[in-house]
Amino acid sequence: MSSSKLRLGILGGGGNSLIGVLHRIASSMFDRYQIVGGVFNPNWDDNIEFATSIGLPTNRIYKDFNTLIEKELQLPAAQRMQVVSILTPNFLHFPMAKKLLENGFHIICEKPLTTTYQEAKELYTILQEKKTVFAVTYTYTGYPMVRQMREMILSGAIGKVQKIDAQYYQGWINPIIHDVEKRKTTWRLNPEKSGISCCIGDIGTHAFDMLEYVSGVKIEKILADLNHVYDDNQMDVDGTILLRCSKNVKGVICASQIATGEENSFVVKVYGDKAGLKWEQENPNYLYLMEEGKPLQVLKPGHEYNSKLSLDGTKLPPGHPEGIFDAMGNIYKGVARAICNEPFNEGEFPTITDGVRGMSFIETAILSHKKGNIWEAVDQNYKL
Ligand SMILES: NC(=O)c1ccc[n+]([C@@H]2O[C@H](COP(=O)([O-])OP(=O)(O)OC[C@H]3O[C@@H](n4cnc5c(N)ncnc54)[C@H](O)[C@@H]3O)[C@@H](O)[C@H]2O)c1
Repeated sequence: MSSSKLRLGILGGGGNSLIGVLHRIASSMFDRYQIVGGVFNPNWDDNIEFATSIGLPTNRIYKDFNTLIEKELQLPAAQRMQVVSILTPNFLHFPMAKKLLENGFHIICEKPLTTTYQEAKELYTILQEKKTVFAVTYTYTGYPMVRQMREMILSGAIGKVQKIDAQYYQGWINPIIHDVEKRKTTWRLNPEKSGISCCIGDIGTHAFDMLEYVSGVKIEKILADLNHVYDDNQMDVDGTILLRCSKNVKGVICASQIATGEENSFVVKVYGDKAGLKWEQENPNYLYLMEEGKPLQVLKPGHEYNSKLSLDGTKLPPGHPEGIFDAMGNIYKGVARAICNEPFNEGEFPTITDGVRGMSFIETAILSHKKGNIWEAVDQNYKL
């Protein structure tokens, strides 16, 4: 019996990776995808061993992405991979995505989209011609209460937006940055593998995308003050970025990987002239509504008072917490709908436009800092 599931390939995300398990579980969550093969690891033995360990037949495990594309194109269309997830370190996103795009595959790509803004624009241009589905996994936009925040702000529930604020604090890089050997070998601190930024590229870009996703305003100009701690590695591990946005809104992004003791403290706040909304990634089932002169309200997933977009992201009745796997699962569900030409809400998954804007943000932040902390414009040619 043939399966109606989308045939998914995976690049990267092997057993030793951080993000692989999240994508595999997310892809299976709504029974829309079947993983049929991929390249999990550049080492052939590790690649095969991992594929076997997760129960995949090895006939479609390939030695590298060029071979994957070549061999998949030889298969009849009804068997060929339709969509490929790119979960490798950043420097491989561009060559992989470019070749996949040119050969007509749908793509789900991890953030940051590429290592340079120029590469991101090139992918955008190819996509205009190929018209396949291209998602960039800013995972946190998949949480039901983030979607609710977006819908409430777009429908005017907090009035006119007047201030946006995101803080993304982690402390994981401390033991690495303070060890001279470790800071030489971690790919996120190597510009050839990570791109020109560590902290802003890795987590500042989540904050940028999130603020635009929930608030509906566009970040137009930024002023960045970054820190790299040791002179033998100039990659930023901490930064504060002031924001000037459309609709006369101002705001701030604070991102750090040296916020000692912090785990994944991503806090997003949007204030309107009637109320404020606050969401915290480490307690993602609570959305705080702060109305002028009224007691604090805590909104939770699955209740009828939530928007259609938010309710679409909950699977069980209220009281069953939705976590990071569910958030990614929601993004995969939206992508499946788009690939299958089913109706979907544009808030269901971040697109290449988010990815391109993210790359402009990263490069602009580095430029602003290097030029002595001055205001620089984020490219507005790729608005949603
Ligand atoms: N959306 C999020 O919140 C989020 C969170 C973590 C990481 N990420 C992104 O995911 C990507 C991977 O990050 P990670 O932390 O999982 O990295 P990682 O170093 O833990 O894992 C990278 C994986 O890629 C594989 N790989 C390396 N070179 C390869 C090649 N040539 N072909 C095939 N596979 C190859 C490695 O074997 C490994 O399995 C990065 O772009 C990162 O920014 C996103």
